[in-house]
Amino acid sequence: MHDLQVAREPLDQVLVAYDRVVVDPARRRRAQTTLNDAVQGHLQSENDLVRLVEVLYFSGRQPLLAKHHLLFPAYRINEEYFLNAAVPCGPLVPRRPRVDNRSWMVLGKRIGFPIGVPASVLTANAQWIHYFSRNGFNVLTYKTVRSRAHEPSPPPNWVFLPRVVEPLPLGPDIHEVVAEQSDWVDVGRTDVSTANSFGVPSSDPEYWEPDLEESLNVLHDDQILIVSVMGDDYDRTARPAALADDFAFVAKRAERAGAEFIELNLSCPNSLVPGHGVKPPMCLDVDLTREVVEAVRARADPGTRIIAKLSYLPMEQLERLVTAIGPLVDAFSGINTLQSQVTDGRGQATFPGRLLAGISGIAIRNYALDFVTNLARLRLETGLRYEIIGMGGVTDVDSFTALYDAGAVAVQSANGVFANPFLAWECVASIGWTLPLSPPLTDESLREEAKGLIVALVSAYESLGPYTVANGMPIPPSQTLDLLTELVRAGRLRVEETGSGFRYRHSGSP
Ligand SMILES: Cc1cc2nc3c(=O)[nH]c(=O)nc-3n(C[C@H](O)[C@H](O)[C@H](O)COP(=O)(O)O)c2cc1C
Repeated sequence: MHDLQVAREPLDQVLVAYDRVVVDPARRRRAQTTLNDAVQGHLQSENDLVRLVEVLYFSGRQPLLAKHHLLFPAYRINEEYFLNAAVPCGPLVPRRPRVDNRSWMVLGKRIGFPIGVPASVLTANAQWIHYFSRNGFNVLTYKTVRSRAHEPSPPPNWVFLPRVVEPLPLGPDIHEVVAEQSDWVDVGRTDVSTANSFGVPSSDPEYWEPDLEESLNVLHDDQILIVSVMGDDYDRTARPAALADDFAFVAKRAERAGAEFIELNLSCPNSLVPGHGVKPPMCLDVDLTREVVEAVRARADPGTRIIAKLSYLPMEQLERLVTAIGPLVDAFSGINTLQSQVTDGRGQATFPGRLLAGISGIAIRNYALDFVTNLARLRLETGLRYEIIGMGGVTDVDSFTALYDAGAVAVQSANGVFANPFLAWECVASIGWTLPLSPPLTDESLREEAKGLIVALVSAYESLGPYTVANGMPIPPSQTLDLLTELVRAGRLRVEETGSGFRYRHSGSP
């Protein structure tokens, strides 16, 4: 551990930098002990190393941590947005993790292991996209861009939530959480949550268009880049058409730069209305959302895949929205961060002037799982054909698998990846060879519902081939083929050989 070469740095400089961020005297004393131990080669355990990582992180020694391939958060939360955007600071895996000879289909493209990073400060530009592409994240979403430059809200913008270590229960009430600016969650912990309030900063299209082109160029063949776009009613006309126009304008500029996948950010919990504080996410308003999605769909290239990014909505609200915009989009993604009240230990807003902010990580895991499960159910019930990109609270292999099994064709993580930039590597190493090539249908009641639909479909015709049945079902073909086998085994369908392959018949039919 003395290999960390802390000794080469004047110790007091490291401590001065640390003390600029952390005011708690007990933490400061502990930092001093940790550094002294490191210099004298007395760090003994994994735990000692974890403490050292915290000291070096808050004192700005990320390059030293990266050099030694140590795990540490891939963003400097105590530094302002532009400094972070300029250079990604996280550790790199030695070689891009890949699963040879296996691929997954997402939005019509063949990709590597279906893990990614959603729109966030972690995907702010080509350098960040390149960084995560090299770390094995194959479904990347370029951070939300706008039609004009937009400054970030004043710092702080991002804080850890060490007091939230369990998924929060589902419910209509707004959650209240406590966070201090210099809070920390030890590296290696998978129960990480954070709150953020950036205000959706964006550069001007004149800057982000070429940067987007560059981002597309750094990708490998088995990776995709989605571009997150957002409109605004900048002249405060309160006309839905003005907002819809601006959304469509940004989407067209993204297309011009080469984007084939466009995500509409309909769910931002951190938009400020001058003089009125933070707005609720737009997708709560079904009519407005439909108008925006219609405008974008009407003007986008017919080949462009459109994804609607939503915040958590309870089933009834989600159903209304999915019915309204489902026919217009190729996929739904979510969830965005959960709008919550964030205060410091003294009852003041942690983000000055913005009492409401977005929380994510393990805090919202239950919400994300419920959302993806409900979207999969609605797809079957409405017969709409959309894909699901799931995110929210994915911090380890098990939480990745939970969202995949619930029906997400790709799973993204912001908090999990921020805290552990090696997450793709861990997932590939652990389940790269066993993850089914499309999400299985695990929910028993959904399986029964889907079987009923298949039997009805086959009965409506005299007999049908397997691929015709699969085409007629609003679920991934592999799920239909799997259910057909079960239906035959249960005697509800029978198989008939014909000259041109086999066909299914209802067992009651002649
Ligand atoms: C710091 C930060 C910035 C984010 N910025 C955006 C954004 O610009 N656009 C967007 O659609 N979502 C944004 N998100 C939301 C994430 O894309 C994601 O939906 C959410 O964090 C839930 O995933 P998680 O629990 O893995 O963090 C941001 C999240 C974080 C943590």
